[in-house]
Amino acid sequence: MKRIKCSQILVVLALMAMSACRDVNKKAIISETAGTNMQTPMESTLQQTNFDTIIDGRAVKLYWLENKDLKMAITNYGGRIVALLTPDQDGNYVDVSIGYSSIKDYVDSDETYFGATIGRVGNRIAKGKFSLDGTEYSVVPNNNENALHGGENGFQDKVWDAEQPDTKTLILRYTSPDMEEGFPGNLTVKVTYSLTDNRAVRMEYEATTDKATVVNLTNHTYFNLNGEGSGSILNHSLQLYADQFTPVDQGLIPTGELKNVKGTPFDFKDFNTIGSRIDEEDRQLAFGGGYDHNFVLNGTKSNGMNHAATVVGDLSGIVMDVYTQEPGIQFYCGNFMASENTLKSGAKDDYRTAFCLETQHFPDSPNQQDFPSITLRPGEVYHTASEYKFSFR
Ligand code: BGC
Repeated sequence: MKRIKCSQILVVLALMAMSACRDVNKKAIISETAGTNMQTPMESTLQQTNFDTIIDGRAVKLYWLENKDLKMAITNYGGRIVALLTPDQDGNYVDVSIGYSSIKDYVDSDETYFGATIGRVGNRIAKGKFSLDGTEYSVVPNNNENALHGGENGFQDKVWDAEQPDTKTLILRYTSPDMEEGFPGNLTVKVTYSLTDNRAVRMEYEATTDKATVVNLTNHTYFNLNGEGSGSILNHSLQLYADQFTPVDQGLIPTGELKNVKGTPFDFKDFNTIGSRIDEEDRQLAFGGGYDHNFVLNGTKSNGMNHAATVVGDLSGIVMDVYTQEPGIQFYCGNFMASENTLKSGAKDDYRTAFCLETQHFPDSPNQQDFPSITLRPGEVYHTASEYKFSFR
């Protein structure tokens, strides 16, 4: 293993300053040699001390996972991915996930979902209300009149217990108390992050409850496959293995219909750039301010999972394939990003400089009888897994 010299540190600092300029042609060059143990600039940027703190009386830390291909930083505050480093075709590590460089930024920022574990119910519940076994429950609305991502203080704000059994695995546990955010039942949740031998980040979720409840867990990483801070994602190419999506109303609540994507800007059955049709006149695009919709996965099986999406970074050639056991995926392309926050690369979180592919059951499922159910009962085990696999072309 090579030792980092002072001159190398200066080069690294210069590169970081350059990336803050957000020149679209500039990739977030991370290291000379991928696959070695050499510390990348992102690792030096993410100071452990900026993540060591106590929240709600519980210790918060930054954990690094690493295998021969990937490196990933996760904090147990919100069970969130802070950095995800994958090599491009030249072997340079690129940080493809958006995040902040300190816990303070995560706590203070108005955008609280970067990289986070989302729960108890991902995406929207209309007016925050739902009935289960004849009882009506109310979740505090936090997105106009609707509840988004588990209400005001969802799982992204919780400190999870962390256990790192080996260098490529992190297990996070959280027990959400009965009626937290208005949801019934004590829900015991376990999330396992791991780096697999075939270049994937695997997320595995388990939950049990002591009262009937609703559960729809996901991860909310914002990706830019050219590297955090490298500009728009509109030239990324996207393929979604979905013939249908769930149209929404103005508040982004599904109408209940499953609409065929054929002949619409939502047809990503073949590769298309994210931006090629985003400005077309289309009611659904207008409601979402762009893409912010759930796609109904065809169920194209690969290793026992649904192949959900393939995305290619136009500048880096980095490819991300998403696989999941979930029936749907929320494709959100950063329409609400507003340059209000400074990211770990020094860049701002500019409009549409990241996209999310959140594997999930469909939004507003508790109120939509024809959607797959998200009810979990005592004695049942909620179990689901998703993988984000990286390669390059
Ligand atoms: C939602 C968006 C929301 C974003 C928040 C997505 O899952 O669908 O409407 O703005 O999360 O980061």
